[in-house]
Amino acid sequence: MSQPRDILITSALPYANGPIHIGHLVEYIQTDIWARFQKMRGHNCWFVCADDAHGTPIMLRARQEGITPEDLIARVSEEHQADFAAFRIGFDNYHSTHSTENQHYSALIYERNRDGGHIAKRTITQAYDPVEQMFLPDRFIKGECPKCGAADQYGDNCEVCGASYSPAELKNARSAISGAVPEQRESDHYFFKLGDFEEMLRNWTRGGSLQKEVANKLDEWFAAGLQEWDISRDAPYFGFEIPDHPGKFFYVWLDAPIGYMASFRNLCDKTEGLDFDRFWGKDSTAELYHFIGKDIIYFHSLFFPATLQGAGFRVPSAIFAHGFLTVDGQKMSKSRGTFIKARTYLDHLNPEYLRYYFAAKLGSGVDDIDLNLEDFTARVNADLVGKVVNIASRCAGFIGKRFDGRLSATLAEPQLFADVVAAGDSIAAAYEKREFSRAVREIMALADRANQYIDEKAPWVVAKQEGRDAELQDICSMGINLFRVLIGYLRPILPATAAESEAFLRIEPLTWDALAEPLLGHEIDRFKPLMTRVDPKQIEAMLEASKEDLSAANSTPAATAEPNPHLTRDPIAETVDYDTFAKTDLRVALIREAKQVEGADKLLQLTLDLGGETRNVFAGIRSAYDPKDLEGRLTVMVANLAPRKMRFGVSEGMVLAAGPGGKDLFILSPDSGAEPGMKVK
Ligand code: MSP
Ligand code: ZN
Repeated sequence: MSQPRDILITSALPYANGPIHIGHLVEYIQTDIWARFQKMRGHNCWFVCADDAHGTPIMLRARQEGITPEDLIARVSEEHQADFAAFRIGFDNYHSTHSTENQHYSALIYERNRDGGHIAKRTITQAYDPVEQMFLPDRFIKGECPKCGAADQYGDNCEVCGASYSPAELKNARSAISGAVPEQRESDHYFFKLGDFEEMLRNWTRGGSLQKEVANKLDEWFAAGLQEWDISRDAPYFGFEIPDHPGKFFYVWLDAPIGYMASFRNLCDKTEGLDFDRFWGKDSTAELYHFIGKDIIYFHSLFFPATLQGAGFRVPSAIFAHGFLTVDGQKMSKSRGTFIKARTYLDHLNPEYLRYYFAAKLGSGVDDIDLNLEDFTARVNADLVGKVVNIASRCAGFIGKRFDGRLSATLAEPQLFADVVAAGDSIAAAYEKREFSRAVREIMALADRANQYIDEKAPWVVAKQEGRDAELQDICSMGINLFRVLIGYLRPILPATAAESEAFLRIEPLTWDALAEPLLGHEIDRFKPLMTRVDPKQIEAMLEASKEDLSAANSTPAATAEPNPHLTRDPIAETVDYDTFAKTDLRVALIREAKQVEGADKLLQLTLDLGGETRNVFAGIRSAYDPKDLEGRLTVMVANLAPRKMRFGVSEGMVLAAGPGGKDLFILSPDSGAEPGMKVK
């Protein structure tokens, strides 16, 4: 073997406010396969990760659950690690960004950049929630899109028309936390001068180790000009206080990638002879790779290398970005049951299946990958069970029963064995380039050859004939030897199956170099089935359970303690006297016409008949009702509501509906016999 390389590999740090789902797993499985491959090749390879524990969403989530952020992140960390372990993601260390190591390196990197003149201070005006007494991140401001008028849009971009804008441009803006109208307030912020590092970043891009899609993105960003980056946030915030600025905190994305260093530091402190500087020092010759999703390229290709450089550390050798997961050709969806949590998957299916399927789909680019559930079943059953495991199960029985588990002392077909070993170079090259789908194709072609050999030799026929014992042993030993090499090739993808195979073969954990040496005269164990077929019923059950998860997730933790989630979400309002109530004029109305409103995905336009008079009403019920199901129905409306001018026209009243929103909206209907125009009192 060539000189062992020093390699440090990371996956992106999952946020500590939610469970791992199968989308995340694309990344953790991809990274794990590569790390296992490098280790199997004999390299000095380390794979670290951590929870990304800081930021406003985590602070608010903890508050909503009535626990401290520390308790929340401790619980989630346990859940994450249990999920990763079940999927055999073999981290050498799993840490947290809320750690002393991370506080140390974040402060150090900040201070060195500050002393190098790369930090600027500016006063900015920002939305402030006067009720919660906190500045509002863009994601926590909602209002009407300034472009298309769609209601209920976030402060940074509109999901209906795709426009991006600043939160100040939103109409009728509200805090998504308290519902209060945000004020504009001033605050001092600290900015990282990214532009100082343009030269370095351009050289890094030209270095040729970046994926072409990533290099192209960088070129676009250079062309647009590198903006200064706001790295500070005001209290209240869950994060690290900026050393020389009490009350100001590092923005979560400043300390998150530094979490890679912190996790590695933590590993060094418990591992004899592992030296931090050899991997992160300015002159490090170690290889450093970050596997990430395509959504976080900016942070990893610009901010992180620049902050490292500014603080006198080495920059990453490369980042490896991947695409997003779709299920049956569509975005993962809670209502379709395709938003599948790692835990729900594990309740129904073997994790090795998903590892294999993702490997069979993954290339080195940033294309999205699709989990087609029918294809998943077919492929796992045909390739893993039908081809690979089948080789062992066809041969092992005879070796056990007829030869006391002993393999022949010579290889029956040395050329076939040599061919299968020789194919290893091309398979290794595919792994190295992260062309896992190519590696899988080549391995399966070899499995076909092995099965062909067994078909031709028909050991089950030979077994029945007298005097052909030696031949039977040779054929089956040859089959077992081919199986061993193939399992070696698949080992980075199928660690659990490989471990069981190693136990059955009574061999040491396989290394790549060991594969060329056949097992001769060696005694193996009794064969136990290594893997069962996927039953489509398991998939159905998993989708069903994912839908159930959704209804469970909808009732907040507070609500599970309470008898009724609706009362918890919307407590009964303050008492009013009858006269106050009676001011609202409620009428039975006939829905004459209902239609969709161009450019507003939440609204339906209703023509309501009050028995002579008609009213035009825009109602936010499109997510729950098909217009044609409404026409001809009776409902109840507020008939004396002041008209409201909307982008699409004037709304003259409102219909009454119950429910939290989305599919769960229910308009009222009077009992039969009621007529349009009747007053409701
Ligand atoms: N906390 C940040 C990363 C900080 S790294 C210093 C974050 N966390 S995340 O939990 O949202 O995502 C973790 C990783 O999973 C990211 O690389 C993200 O791109 C990836 N994926 C999340 N959903 C995904 C899919 N549906 N498909 C593929 N990858 C996905 O971002
Ligand atoms: Zn819009």
